[in-house]
Amino acid sequence: MSEKENNTMGKIVSLAKRRGFMYPGSEIYGGLAGVYDYGPLGTVLKENIKSLWRRAMTFEHENIVELDSAIFMHPKTWEASGHVGGFSDPLVEHKKTNKRFRVDHLLEDVDIVADEKMSVEEIQKLFDDNFEKLALPKGERSDFSDVQKFNLLVKSNFGTTKENVSDEPVYLRGETAQGIFVNFKNVLDSTILKVPFGIAQIGKAFRNEIKPQQFVFRMREFEQMEMQYFVHPDEAATIFEEFKDERMNYYVEKLDIPAEKLRFKQHENLVFYAKDAWDIEYNFDFGWKEIEGLHWRGDYDLKQHQEFSGAKLEYTDPYTSEKYMPNVIEASSGLDRVMFMVLENTYKEEEMDGDVRTLLSLPASIAPVKLAVSPLLKNKPELVEKAREVFVGLKQKFGHVMYDDNGNIGKRYRRQDEIGTPFCVVIDFETLEGSTVDTVTVRDRDTGEQERVKISELENYISEKIS
Ligand code: GAP
Repeated sequence: MSEKENNTMGKIVSLAKRRGFMYPGSEIYGGLAGVYDYGPLGTVLKENIKSLWRRAMTFEHENIVELDSAIFMHPKTWEASGHVGGFSDPLVEHKKTNKRFRVDHLLEDVDIVADEKMSVEEIQKLFDDNFEKLALPKGERSDFSDVQKFNLLVKSNFGTTKENVSDEPVYLRGETAQGIFVNFKNVLDSTILKVPFGIAQIGKAFRNEIKPQQFVFRMREFEQMEMQYFVHPDEAATIFEEFKDERMNYYVEKLDIPAEKLRFKQHENLVFYAKDAWDIEYNFDFGWKEIEGLHWRGDYDLKQHQEFSGAKLEYTDPYTSEKYMPNVIEASSGLDRVMFMVLENTYKEEEMDGDVRTLLSLPASIAPVKLAVSPLLKNKPELVEKAREVFVGLKQKFGHVMYDDNGNIGKRYRRQDEIGTPFCVVIDFETLEGSTVDTVTVRDRDTGEQERVKISELENYISEKIS
């Protein structure tokens, strides 16, 4: 599907660029596939979403702490985790155009499952048997390569001179989770935490995706919000169910996503070490897609790192002296995907005052601009002076406040609607004199209704609405 199509995604891509949410990466050089830059509004929106997640993890739990581990990790990390051997997607190449296709996605489109557990030979057979049905460029089977597994880790190297650059690649981390596993013991030893406890992390991850697509849905450089919860094996099943509920409720309650646009999908074929795995999916314009994975990973991760590093990662219960390897319950979501979901969910085009307006009905808690302050007319010094005074006071209190005197008031409302600003404060002639002196109008983005509010009560009025 072309991102230029006149569908919701196309409109969001265009709005994102026009208003400064996201830009194609390195655009002046023609762009870089799978990479996006966040503009002024996108940066704040992203920070607000992070901070909501961080609060849910570390404020609403007493035993989840945060970590910020390095992007580069010892190469052995990725051998232990299984990424060097198994973190790959099946691809075929169209020989004439050198275009590459993900075979599991081609098969999924015709309702055939080719999962990570399958060998190349098994996937090859599925590809050959169903070749005619697959959405590929016209041609014979011989126009395409055989199926190969393509490793998604992005390689780099360390060293400063030609002579000492190591032959062994270092990888840009493929997921943030490994930074948590390798620091399990450090966190235990440097805090008073006891199992069960969790470590949360927000950070960049890198994957050499065969076909980055659907805007920021599948990128090569993206951000993850991951939490690994370490538990006694006997408690893992119950805690897993609790986290499943908690994470689903989070999207409904904190991000205002309608429950009917979300669903759970259980993984059909688990990797050998996993005990259970579910995705939380959102019904995007282009179908139900994963935004967060919930995985009960058994004790695989800690055992693997213990074996590869030689460090003892077994836990000793301080009360019972029982020794065991904790199980891991993982909640792993993609920040960019969550942001895309929020944009898609709040994007609306609707009639207002005989005009069609574009609206982002963002929850006030994450809106990048909380309110805009305007003088009714920008060429009346008495209005401008008062508007600046009100603006400075509100900016000190709320931070993300915009002074907007561009175009006429109607245009300003349209602009603020389009970037999701919940309130517009307007200083007009009634602010300056008569029975309404020192009052302003506050316009509500969603209803378009206006209320007169005393300047002295403005901070409380807005605070209440925003919270
Ligand atoms: N530690 C587990 C893990 O990384 P995953 O399902 O591969 O699991 C977790 O990734 C989340 O990261 C996904 O649910 C998705 O939201 C996000 N994600 C994964 N690959 C992505 C990509 N190429 N672009 C954007 N987000 C991605």
